[in-house]
Amino acid sequence: MRTQCPRRFRKVLLVLLLSAGSVYGADEAGLILYRRYCAACHGREGRGDGPVSPALGEKPTDLTQITAAQGGGAFPFESVVEAIDGTRTVRAHGVSEMPIWGEVFHADPSSPLEQQILAGGKVIAIVRYLRSLQREAGPSH
Ligand code: HEC
Repeated sequence: MRTQCPRRFRKVLLVLLLSAGSVYGADEAGLILYRRYCAACHGREGRGDGPVSPALGEKPTDLTQITAAQGGGAFPFESVVEAIDGTRTVRAHGVSEMPIWGEVFHADPSSPLEQQILAGGKVIAIVRYLRSLQREAGPSH
């Protein structure tokens, strides 16, 4: 019987990938993936000022302020994962200018496990990188 339990599965995968991340150098991978897929809009430093941003109707989120924007505390890791892999709709991704990443970061729960792990690993690496960018709110520099 093929029971589908994608949400629980995702949690297990998330935990696995989180513990594996530091072993295979996810921070470096996160930086590379970020530059490749995100920096055009969100900027090299994550401040929402990438070269494409002036052309967008909506200003890309300042990714250094994710923790500050929710009033400090812990970085909302899972929620950011969900914003990227398409689990949570970023104000309807299709409507807003934050792209949906499709196969790059989101593997269908029915796809081969290897594919799911690869997609999940990329998301985790990027989110770990974003976590490292967090700054206090307030005037910059
Ligand atoms: C084509 C431009 C573009 C690219 C490329 C892009 N984004 Fe965005 N992103 C946006 C815009 C515009 C918003 C704000 C609009 C919104 O929230 O719907 C946004 C919002 C976000 C948010 C906030 C979501 C929330 O919770 O409201 C996160 C996190 C994010 N982007 C991460 C990323 C990451 C990580 C990448 C690379 C994998 C990326 N973005 C690539 C344009 C982009």
